Amino acid sequence: MKKKVLFVCLGNICRSPAAEAIFLFQLRKQELLDRFEADSAGTGGWHVGRLADSRMRKAALERGIIIESRARQIILEDFEKFDLILTMDNSNLKDVKDLSNQLITSSKAKIIPLVKYAKNNSYMEVPDPYYGGERGFAEVLDLLEDAINGLIIEIAKT
Ligand code: 4NP
Repeated sequence: MKKKVLFVCLGNICRSPAAEAIFLFQLRKQELLDRFEADSAGTGGWHVGRLADSRMRKAALERGIIIESRARQIILEDFEKFDLILTMDNSNLKDVKDLSNQLITSSKAKIIPLVKYAKNNSYMEVPDPYYGGERGFAEVLDLLEDAINGLIIEIAKT
């Protein structure tokens, strides 16, 4: 059975689509793609159906990573479908946990902040680059690459 991983941020146009694309990119490089499935979603629905923010797509492309996903909002079924839900910041974490409390049964998915897997960064959250400058996007990608490296090492073990 493939392990299913969902990355979640607020708008699903900056951090979580980048995380999903980096995850798939690194899995492909490590020939692990057949063992996992990935998706991303936002806690908010403002950008549903849109491609990721052009600034994030450009910053990712500079590293050879293509972000193709379109924004969607997290739904209750995601807690049953996915094994792991990885949140970007404390506000996403709270919103996702609050949503999981609406389930009749408990969530199958484990809900974990993605930064927990970072080895070379001491960030407590993945910062939201949406209102920042260009540099913010590269910084977020550096952090995501670090955390996703750690994540793959951890989940590829089992
Ligand atoms: P994301 O960034 O959660 O990383 O996708 C944001 C995108 C849009 C908004 C906020 C954060 N917004 O307020 O529209």
